[in-house]
Amino acid sequence: MSSSSQPAKPSLLILGARGFLGRSVATAAAARFNVLRADRTAGERSTDIVVDITDANVVEQTIREIQPKAVVLLAAISDIDLCERQPERAAAVNVQGVAHVARACAATGTRLLFTSSGAVFDGKKIGYCEEDPVSPLSVYGRSKADAENVVLETLPDAIVLRVSLVLGRTGLTTTNSVVDTLVRRWQAGEIVRASTLECRNPIDAATLATWIIELLPNPEARGLIHTGSTHAWTRYQIATALATRLGVPEVQLLPEETTSPARALRGVHQLLLTDKIARLCTTQPPTIEEVVERSLREPAESHQ
Ligand SMILES: NC(=O)c1ccc[n+]([C@@H]2O[C@H](COP(=O)([O-])OP(=O)(O)OC[C@H]3O[C@@H](n4cnc5c(N)ncnc54)[C@H](OP(=O)(O)O)[C@@H]3O)[C@@H](O)[C@H]2O)c1
Repeated sequence: MSSSSQPAKPSLLILGARGFLGRSVATAAAARFNVLRADRTAGERSTDIVVDITDANVVEQTIREIQPKAVVLLAAISDIDLCERQPERAAAVNVQGVAHVARACAATGTRLLFTSSGAVFDGKKIGYCEEDPVSPLSVYGRSKADAENVVLETLPDAIVLRVSLVLGRTGLTTTNSVVDTLVRRWQAGEIVRASTLECRNPIDAATLATWIIELLPNPEARGLIHTGSTHAWTRYQIATALATRLGVPEVQLLPEETTSPARALRGVHQLLLTDKIARLCTTQPPTIEEVVERSLREPAESHQ
């Protein structure tokens, strides 16, 4: 019990806490959990924990020592093109690193939530449910599919959240946030091209974080769970909505009607059907218009 006689909050360890999604999860979790932030390298806070998930001993030791109630595993090489160029690094972090965390959670009876991707599918079907077989096109997609298997074989009650595309702002240049990148490029006067082929049902980081916090204490939440907005748009439609809302001149956004051979292969349709999460959570899947609007809100806690 704390000094004010309130029960102590359960602790939540976030691996990859300084990343794009990690910041939103840390902010959303603070009301319900004692949030412990871990990253590959030391940060500015004295309370930050250093955990490189490729080091099995450090992972196991950290989880044994701090005995968190739950672990949210966000640490990853999330850049699809970087994974394609460096498949060994992608496997070391996105598969073996995930295996280290899953084994440490299994050994200590710790709840685990892992974030995967719509890139586990080839995008040939319009609308994927959790039961559909995986068919990745890229090194990244394969690494996520392999990691899902490792997590669920090691810990069948773990939660594996699949995400098509996360939208939101951090105000930083160091994360994987597409909106931050677009805003930065438009502010610099650049012309941005966005695909008219790739369809995604995105989710804003704040709603995704709310779902994560809702799912963790729910014993019925287990296995694969798809997330996203109620319908999908092309990347060009998403960028157009963002540009309109930000007052970006039309000339600064152009449609990209071909795929560059320099980029890793992406699936055309990544519409993740959200019936399961709608049943499990009181927070319901938002419309894509709501996602765009929410994604432009200033970060609740910037420059963490
Ligand atoms: N954002 C999306 O649209 C999206 C869509 C689908 C799935 N996801 C998944 O959601 C998760 C979070 O994504 P995000 O967008 O927040 O990515 P992000 O901004 O790139 O954050 C990933 C974090 O992982 C850390 N990391 C990398 N290697 C590590 C290691 N060996 N040990 C510990 N930490 C390590 C990175 O730290 P350093 O920078 O110091 O290396 C970074 O802080 C990832 O699993 C990603 O695959 C994201």
